[in-house]
Amino acid sequence: LPDPDVAALTGRDVDGLLPRPGGESDKYRRGVLGVAAGSDLFTGAAVLAVGGALRGGAGMVRYAGREAPVAQVRARWPEAVVTLLDEPSIEHVGRVQAWVLGPGLGTDAWAHELAARVLATDVPVLVDADGLTLVSRDTALLRRAAPVLITPHAGELSRLIGADRAAIEAARLEHARRAAAELGVTVLLKGSTTVVAEEGRPARVNVTGTPWLATGGTGDVLSGLAGALLAQGLSCYDAASCAAFLHGVAGGLAADGAPLAAADVATAIPAAMRTVAESA
Ligand code: APR
Ligand code: MG
Repeated sequence: LPDPDVAALTGRDVDGLLPRPGGESDKYRRGVLGVAAGSDLFTGAAVLAVGGALRGGAGMVRYAGREAPVAQVRARWPEAVVTLLDEPSIEHVGRVQAWVLGPGLGTDAWAHELAARVLATDVPVLVDADGLTLVSRDTALLRRAAPVLITPHAGELSRLIGADRAAIEAARLEHARRAAAELGVTVLLKGSTTVVAEEGRPARVNVTGTPWLATGGTGDVLSGLAGALLAQGLSCYDAASCAAFLHGVAGGLAADGAPLAAADVATAIPAAMRTVAESA
């Protein structure tokens, strides 16, 4: 029997939810996404998150970070507006309507301070990867009025809610729901199947994807994509479910029966959007 607390999301639903620019649109009205990611050790995560974001339809992607990832993002993405941060402060990164926080950010004091500043804003924040480690150590960071979307894999969720990783793998939906209720956030739990949970809403189980997505960096692309949808005004629940769906379709298109690199998934996002439009 179908579980009434689980809702299926179809390509037609995703197509209906995706924002499209109107004749009066300009880049600011289409949504400005801020990306706080990357560190001197992990520059690739910043490049991949910005890549996912640039294909997600926002009007502008603003990247802010330290020297090494700034150099890489500048070299790879001339489309992004890049700010080199001398201090872990975002006061000069204006007009941001949603943030992606965490991929490759590191977990040092500088990263913690930047996370605190991003989470102190009044716009939606997606927290992933090292951002989740920082939040696990200091859950007070999550006390904010504006929405939070977390995108953990089972290991990251296990640190956040103190549950066994194997127990999470065995009951993914239940643990995603529990985390959403306990933390007061929307949860996108990644893995071979991805689920989205939010208190008061039916959970969404993603039906797209390919095992070829099990390669480093695809999670960073997903964060950028979901962040871009948040910046365009989708709720955490819809941004998470649409991003998971499109990321899976993009993975299938990029792989097509052979290995993919995470950057290929970002490149395939527009084709994934066309695919859902045709299926609708
Ligand atoms: N089938 C379908 N999709 C899969 C499968 C699978 N078998 N395995 C993984 N995926 C998808 C996930 O659903 C998710 O969208 O691939 C993506 C992987 O994301 P992450 O687990 O965040 O991995 P990623 O960030 O790309 O790289 C790993 O990030 O969190 C850190 O500790 C982690 O350093 C490591 C790095
Ligand atoms: Mg990850």
